[in-house]
Amino acid sequence: MSTATQNTSAQITVDIIAGARPNFMKIAPIIRAVEESQLRGGSLNYQLVHTGQHYDAKMSGDFFTQLGIPAPHVNLEVGSGTQAEQTAVIMTRYERLLLDARSALCLVVGDVTSTMACAIVAQKLCVPVAHIEAGIRSGDWTMPEEINRMVTDSITNYFFTTSEVANNNLRKSGITNERIFFVGNTMIDTLLANMSRLQPPAFFDELKLQDKQYFVLTLHRPNNVDGENTLTKMLMAVAAGARGLPIVFPVHPRTAKTLKLIAGLPSNFHFVDPQPYLEFNYLVQHAKAVITDSGGITEETTVMGVPCMTLRNSTERPETVTMGTNELLGTDPAALAPALEKLFAGEWKKGTIPPLWDGKTGPRIVAALEKLLARS
Ligand code: UD1
Repeated sequence: MSTATQNTSAQITVDIIAGARPNFMKIAPIIRAVEESQLRGGSLNYQLVHTGQHYDAKMSGDFFTQLGIPAPHVNLEVGSGTQAEQTAVIMTRYERLLLDARSALCLVVGDVTSTMACAIVAQKLCVPVAHIEAGIRSGDWTMPEEINRMVTDSITNYFFTTSEVANNNLRKSGITNERIFFVGNTMIDTLLANMSRLQPPAFFDELKLQDKQYFVLTLHRPNNVDGENTLTKMLMAVAAGARGLPIVFPVHPRTAKTLKLIAGLPSNFHFVDPQPYLEFNYLVQHAKAVITDSGGITEETTVMGVPCMTLRNSTERPETVTMGTNELLGTDPAALAPALEKLFAGEWKKGTIPPLWDGKTGPRIVAALEKLLARS
């Protein structure tokens, strides 16, 4: 575990937890809003705790650099492992940190292993927990993220939400309105703040990619990518429906392990490393469509108005389907052909942007926290 000197100019210190790639774009606007508030004399201070769940430059460091996130004050250096191993190590090391120096609040974001592990530790030490992106549910207990969401929300004090659906999920589980803060989407804060900085990856010209004339594919869910046959069928179905257009596939480390075993894939696939934030979202913005099993990407495609096909049976982000450009195709590769036909026929829905996905969520969160912590 490594630690660095903490900024102590303001009095109330909140731990901001981040561990895996989808966390980094969610914490960036909160950190920025805390720092802006400090300049105006605000009372909040933060300690950034990186659990080290993702540790490669491509999965972690590049995001800190591009999004201007300061170096973490603490790195718990958990590294790879099974879900239980990672949970145990994060809990042990975060507990030691809190026992040494207690923070006023533990702020967790999203639904990764680090989110749940730190929330449990904090609550057991009676440090209140704030959960950013609380209340979303897929109902699919085979996804570790769903378990992480449910456990985290069952011991959260302050729920910061992205949608009215999330608010209702929380109310249904007995959470009172005073503990629910409908603030919008920090991931979209980051996207809107960086729209003018998006940049093509070096291979964009090398591959002769053209605006709206290629697909972006991302797959990393264990049930889609851990089996060689399943992944092969999925990839063949994507290629069959893509009418020869290039398919850019930034390969997650989990997917890379299976992909190594598969030979003879069509030549319009372009397998590339996980992309940095600005390059990835440039690729998405200019794609004809995105095919994915991610959750967060469906929010970004909704805001950028890019057609999105999700290879999952459920989503915890239903507003990307009811309001946005996303469609849930399920995990049967046969669903891709009709969806791609609809796309090529120009019949894909246009979509609208969900309420409060306006780029101002970070300051709303910080204003609410300042009030809450001032009276506690
Ligand atoms: C995690 C999150 C998931 C998120 C995804 C995005 C959980 C339960 N899941 O899944 O919600 O969508 O991140 O990336 O927290 N690895 C590397 N380098 C790294 C990080 C991981 O090679 O920097 C390898 C690991 O050793 C492991 C695999 O990638 O073999 C998976 O990493 P892991 O953190 O277990 O979960 P993800 O599948 O990435």
